[in-house]
Amino acid sequence: MIPELHTQILERATAPYFDTGRFNYHWGRGKLGRDPIFPGLIDHGIFPSNARVLDLGCGRGLLASWLLAAEQIANEGRWPAGTPQPPRNLHFHGVELMGCEADCGNHALSVFGSRVRLAQGDVRHVDIAEVDVVAILDVLHYINYDDQERVFDRIHAALPPGGLFLTRIGDAAAGLPFRFSQVVDKAMSFAQGHRLPRMWCRPLHDWVEALERRGFVVKTQPMSQGTPFANVMIEARIQNA
Ligand SMILES: C[S@@+](CC[C@H](N)C(=O)[O-])C[C@H]1O[C@@H](n2cnc3c(N)ncnc32)[C@H](O)[C@@H]1O
Repeated sequence: MIPELHTQILERATAPYFDTGRFNYHWGRGKLGRDPIFPGLIDHGIFPSNARVLDLGCGRGLLASWLLAAEQIANEGRWPAGTPQPPRNLHFHGVELMGCEADCGNHALSVFGSRVRLAQGDVRHVDIAEVDVVAILDVLHYINYDDQERVFDRIHAALPPGGLFLTRIGDAAAGLPFRFSQVVDKAMSFAQGHRLPRMWCRPLHDWVEALERRGFVVKTQPMSQGTPFANVMIEARIQNA
């Protein structure tokens, strides 16, 4: 993504958080400004238009904010020619363990009307139905292995043919970069008010195997460019009938 476009989306996506407090605003700017997954989602055309998206462990709703801000810019005719178009007409339902983060996101993202709705809830128990895309970004390692397996089963059962389960994980086989990401993750988690959690990580091949075993068609790509981490984005799709 060209830097000018990245800056434009960043400004548009984070402005709504300004009124929710300095911390939320700067958190959003840091994350959307530096995490390669956000431009990557648009550059690689990951989200289909018109999708109903369930974002589990959505935090303050930055994924929705990024993609809806990109759509607005494109709809205003200000999207640079020759660059991949953003998805249109997405609707987001986010679920987040920390009620205060869901509240913050709802407050900020009311600028997008009824396109975003965040709620307090637990990824392990939430209803998964009537969705086209389920996103779980940097969250799975907070729930234990049995719960991970049950969540995979429920996502697989809920998605229609062509549906997408998008996740990002840390590759536990990646050595030092993985261990570094764990330290940062624990520090961030602590800063957000969680107790220092145990984490349930796996090597990449293990995540892929767990998804393929259920019939997902899986594609992976490294998604930590420009950071010292070992994160990998996993696209797990239900085959079209
Ligand atoms: C590293 S943050 C990622 C936030 C967001 N997915 C993103 O990419 O910006 C992990 C989030 O998962 C949430 N979380 C952890 N365990 C959860 C659970 N069992 N159910 C719902 N959310 C959970 C945390 O509160 C935190 O907001």
